Amino acid sequence: MKQPVRVAVTGAAGQIGYSLLFRIASGEMLGKDQPVILQLLEIPVEKAQQALQGVIMELDDCAFPLLVDVIGTDDPNVAFKDADYALLVGARPRGPGMERADLLQENAKIFTVQGKALNDVASRDVKVLVVGNPANTNAYIAMKSAPDLPAKNFTAMLRLDHNRALTQVAKKTGKPVKDIKKLTVWGNHSPTMYADYRFATIDGESVKDMINDQEWNANTFLPTVGKRGAAIIEARGLSSAASAANAAIDHMRDWALGSNGEWVTMGIPSDGSYGIPEGVMFGFPVTTENGEYQIVQGLEIDDFSQERINLTLNELEEERAAIDHLFS
Ligand code: NAI
Repeated sequence: MKQPVRVAVTGAAGQIGYSLLFRIASGEMLGKDQPVILQLLEIPVEKAQQALQGVIMELDDCAFPLLVDVIGTDDPNVAFKDADYALLVGARPRGPGMERADLLQENAKIFTVQGKALNDVASRDVKVLVVGNPANTNAYIAMKSAPDLPAKNFTAMLRLDHNRALTQVAKKTGKPVKDIKKLTVWGNHSPTMYADYRFATIDGESVKDMINDQEWNANTFLPTVGKRGAAIIEARGLSSAASAANAAIDHMRDWALGSNGEWVTMGIPSDGSYGIPEGVMFGFPVTTENGEYQIVQGLEIDDFSQERINLTLNELEEERAAIDHLFS
């Protein structure tokens, strides 16, 4: 049996946490041969800590063979101690009357503290996934707050958008999701993201040629994927949780265990590829192998795509400008 690895999860008593933790503990994220220790963080509020204890009781009651230990805490330095993986799910939600700028500042406080704690106590190889919104900018803040850790260890979740896009293409073409290759989502996890099936194939055939409908792309596909989060809130009265947890599992599994040559989408600090300024936390097509990701290079960006990429990049640059004073 392998040595156990430490997986930290923040916001562990929340909706996504409730769909996520049991799957990590059952081996769906890191493999059925990988024991795990869960290190769960919640805010220092009695109700949240009590709810966290309830979740831990349920984890206990599953008697997962791979779950070696569970720690519940309100201290980031305890939660991130020697963490090999960190899933930052907890974030400040947008309250009534709260402006986007206030939301950014409130989350900046959380992700500065958590980035520093990761910097101080986590494994030097920790793989960090930020799910809590605004995910890209929160990941950027955590990365900037952890100067002793490699920037490439910090990522943001675009995988839910990727999975949403896969299903829309599957429905349009009438083909199974599993057969769709080489799809990606560029940019910010927000309605500005650009889901791109121009390079996608099904059994070697071009999806773009199969669909051959730019009007559908611009006026149905992109708005459907971009506004899916809002549609789910409207239908369910709560934001997407099981699908978000599922995407987090997909993201971490592929990063840790490899994507076998398949393209996946990860929000990662740009290395300057495709003209995205270095350091911007941007959704890119990547392949993963041996615990590392590589951006898929050499893709042609046509005018429509460039326009969409600029739009989502501008939004990220604006978000970055609103919090960059923290790092100057
Ligand atoms: P939730 O409100 O049910 O749970 C969030 C939990 O985080 C709460 O229990 C809260 O006490 C905790 N929390 C807040 N601040 C914390 C901190 N500083 N440290 C530790 N815990 C903290 O929310 P839910 O539905 O689980 O969503 C979590 C986040 O994920 C939200 O920001 C949501 O917008 C985001 N999200 C991101 C998606 C993506 O694709 N990137 C998709 C869906 C949701």
